[in-house]
Amino acid sequence: MAEDITSTLKEERRFPPPAEFSGRARVRSMEEYEALYRRAEEDPEGFWAERAQELLTWDQPWEQVLDWQPPRARWFVGGRLNASVNCLDRHVATWRRNKAAIIWEGEPGEVRTLTYLQLWREVCRFANVLRKAGCEAGDRVVLYMPMVPELAVAMLACARLGVTHSIVFGGFSASAIRDRVNDAGAKVVVTADGGWRRGGIVPLKDSVDAALEGDACPSVEGVIVLRRTGQKVAMEPGRDIWWHELMETVDATCPPVSVDSEHPLFILYTSGTTGKPKGVVHSTGGYLLGTAWTSRMVFDLREEDTYWCTADIGWITGHSYIVYGPLANGATTVMYEGAPNWPEPDRFWDIIERHRVNIFYTAPTAIRAFIRWGDRWPLKHDLSSLRLLGTVGEPINPEAWIWYHRVIGKARCPIVDTWWQTETGAIMISPLPGATPLVPGSATRPLPGVIADVVDGDGQPVDGDQGGYLVIRKPWPSMIRGVWGDPERFEKTYFSQVPGTYFAGDGVRQDAEGNFWIMGRIDDVINVSGHRLGTMEIESALVSHPAVAEAAVVGRPDDLKGQAIVAFVSLTGDSDPSPALGETLRAHVAAEIGALARPEEVRFTDALPKTRSGKIMRRLLQDIAANRDTRGDTTTLEDATVLDRLRKKWDER
Ligand code: WTA
Repeated sequence: MAEDITSTLKEERRFPPPAEFSGRARVRSMEEYEALYRRAEEDPEGFWAERAQELLTWDQPWEQVLDWQPPRARWFVGGRLNASVNCLDRHVATWRRNKAAIIWEGEPGEVRTLTYLQLWREVCRFANVLRKAGCEAGDRVVLYMPMVPELAVAMLACARLGVTHSIVFGGFSASAIRDRVNDAGAKVVVTADGGWRRGGIVPLKDSVDAALEGDACPSVEGVIVLRRTGQKVAMEPGRDIWWHELMETVDATCPPVSVDSEHPLFILYTSGTTGKPKGVVHSTGGYLLGTAWTSRMVFDLREEDTYWCTADIGWITGHSYIVYGPLANGATTVMYEGAPNWPEPDRFWDIIERHRVNIFYTAPTAIRAFIRWGDRWPLKHDLSSLRLLGTVGEPINPEAWIWYHRVIGKARCPIVDTWWQTETGAIMISPLPGATPLVPGSATRPLPGVIADVVDGDGQPVDGDQGGYLVIRKPWPSMIRGVWGDPERFEKTYFSQVPGTYFAGDGVRQDAEGNFWIMGRIDDVINVSGHRLGTMEIESALVSHPAVAEAAVVGRPDDLKGQAIVAFVSLTGDSDPSPALGETLRAHVAAEIGALARPEEVRFTDALPKTRSGKIMRRLLQDIAANRDTRGDTTTLEDATVLDRLRKKWDER
């Protein structure tokens, strides 16, 4: 295991749930939690079947709760349902038809509220648009959109038809879009003329044009373009068509297509150790159950709550906890388009005050930025509506936790530190806010139904406080169903280290109280501001530049972002290192993948440290990037002098 993540935190502070909170929570004590946990452990199928019955509306009941043929799980076999019906129609059929489903705020300041009925009508109409564009159950549609309600509309419209959506984060570049569109074989791309970010326009349509240029994406038959910013964009005749023009031509009702419980609801690409990002496939029934149940339990979601998750819908957190989980529960979900510090660093607190947000879910990297910007920004606002806070995406350092608790939560609101992944679909390890004593820096205990464990390199259970690898021993409903188009990679990545057991790829330690301490990725994935990036992707982008012969990328601890990207680069014969070339390479990576992958630092070197068998020794590079002494063995190094040269920056030699 990487040394830097096993440094053990000693955290003695405990924050028991406030009596007022516990008094009305769904799970009110650790005894209740333990009982529920035991029940789920003893009879997982009975446990999940009860929840699926209670929380979802099925068109046809299942015949079998679980069919588990590792690594393949099928949940609620034979059951049929529709995700958009579960998120909309069943609420529209009640008094909730006039309840706010989405409260949206655009970055320039406009506010739009869509009731369940209004959202349902938009979804039905857009489903008819997709149908007119030739989409039917089983097809894939890529969504590359800003954070506007139409993104949720497009997702739910796909779900209504049984079309599998694949959202590409709006910060990704043209070539990232192209790879994903081609891997998914998308028939239609839905985008917008642009989106607002820090007062500027993100030119989404231009990136789509560049991605599809020539015959780069042969599967794409049409591009639907939402008008958001009003800026002029090129419309290719026969391929591109405006969202609003199509919407005028269709009916406002659209019968839902009932799909099999296992039908792929969406594909979401995420970075892995090797090669291109992998398309994580999620099912309809199991995924919806996982997100609906955890929304209720972890966020203690109530009918009267206004709930806000600040993630981008381009990531799994937005899928599960802005759209599917909250809407399946008939909740009011807030959606914000832009940056947290636009026009001022109090934008989030202003939104909380004006919309009277009760539950607020954000990332440690954002919290660290708030701390840096200063207490005066949150203190300017009335945050008394808040009753629960959450974090996700990376380990939260205890100081940031304490600040969040004190300055935002006024020592009154429980904080749920939620561990999960794109692959798990829903939250797996988290406090239950009415029951669990909170431990700053720990996601505490697995939820009922989640059999988490710590193993060593041989897959053997690890004793007590030693670090190890996080595994999940039993299947759960919202688990990844496959890697799109690559069953071998699916099995190899997740179910081969410990055969038949899900391998999360995170280092972890479990303390004597049973609390889990997530220590970060053990593979070559870098977590920058809570976003997963594969070192391989960035290295491939670097070597695609003609000046680069070889590249190795590592993460370096960073106070704000969690990790920052450092690239070690050796150049081709006719190129010389210079600050300008460093800048060019940084910009090149941003253009190839997206700004979030831009290296913080490029270090030139004549050679990379390699083993005699030619493997780059990343551990050494991590130490050098972090400016710390190299611990551990360097005897396998092919050329020991490389290390000394690497320690010096190129301009100091
Ligand atoms: C990390 C985001 C510590 C972890 C939902 C995981 C966390 C990866 C936490 C998944 C947490 C997420 N504490 N680490 N509360 N939440 N992580 O797929 O390394 O974007 O494997 O899913 O983020 O990132 P992903």
